[in-house]
Amino acid sequence: MIKFNDVSKTFDGGVKAVDHVSFDVQPGEIVGFIGPNGSGKTTSMKMMTGILKPDTGNIEIGGYDITTNPLEAKQLIGYISDSPDQFMRLIGREYLDFIADIYGVSLEDRVKRADALSERFGMADALDRQIVSYSHGMRQKIMVIGALIHEPDEWILDEPMTGLDPESAFELKKMMREHADKGHAVLFSTHVLEVAEKLCDRVVIIRYGKVLFSGTLDELTALYPDTSLEEIFIEMMKDKEGADESL
Ligand SMILES: Nc1ncnc2c1ncn2[C@@H]1O[C@H](COP(=O)(O)OP(=O)(O)OP(=O)(O)O)[C@@H](O)[C@H]1O
Ligand SMILES: [Mg+2]
Repeated sequence: MIKFNDVSKTFDGGVKAVDHVSFDVQPGEIVGFIGPNGSGKTTSMKMMTGILKPDTGNIEIGGYDITTNPLEAKQLIGYISDSPDQFMRLIGREYLDFIADIYGVSLEDRVKRADALSERFGMADALDRQIVSYSHGMRQKIMVIGALIHEPDEWILDEPMTGLDPESAFELKKMMREHADKGHAVLFSTHVLEVAEKLCDRVVIIRYGKVLFSGTLDELTALYPDTSLEEIFIEMMKDKEGADESL
């Protein structure tokens, strides 16, 4: 389970990126984190993984506080960042070995998992090449494989489908469902509302660092009958404090 309790974060320079945000992701659930550019999704996810520290509030991952028990919490997390352009000089398999070393995955398990995941994402032929030679989508895929190599319980995926071809995106969505169905928590951010609509058990909609809505899509559409998710989203972005009057 992922629990975000009254978390706030202001960056140097005064940008309040996350403003008293609370929500959770229960075991067995896929939760979609939705909001416009700059609304605080990545900042929230980086705080969940310990990359950034909250100013106030606390975050629990599988019962461990990410600030006071970071190692236990991090061991449970599979995180895909919003930028796949990392560790470019490493060969694909070296990168996976590096991540497997960090998480203490046995040699036998890492090879088995790397091969199975590479097969699923059509990356088997690329593992012996340097990441810098990969296309954007292939970099995204190696990050996905790396994030899952230690078989983490709690998935925190920042726009995971970006750049993936339809087959790989389909595969990842299937894996997210399978993972949740095994009783684990999956949180992912996306701008693709159709994906959220099809995949999520619940959504958290955020704007200017504040949660505007948290609940099921049925609960959301009940508030706006006979309206598509896209229209609801655009409506919600308009009618709250700070909205651009020209819209
Ligand atoms: N390192 C930083 N220093 C200063 N401000 C930052 C930093 N990172 C993010 N911000 C600001 O925090 C706010 C939230 O940014 P964040 O990246 O969390 O948004 P996001 O919802 O992930 O957006 P997107 O949909 O574009 O990925 C923005 O106003 C952004 O400019
Ligand atoms: Mg982001």
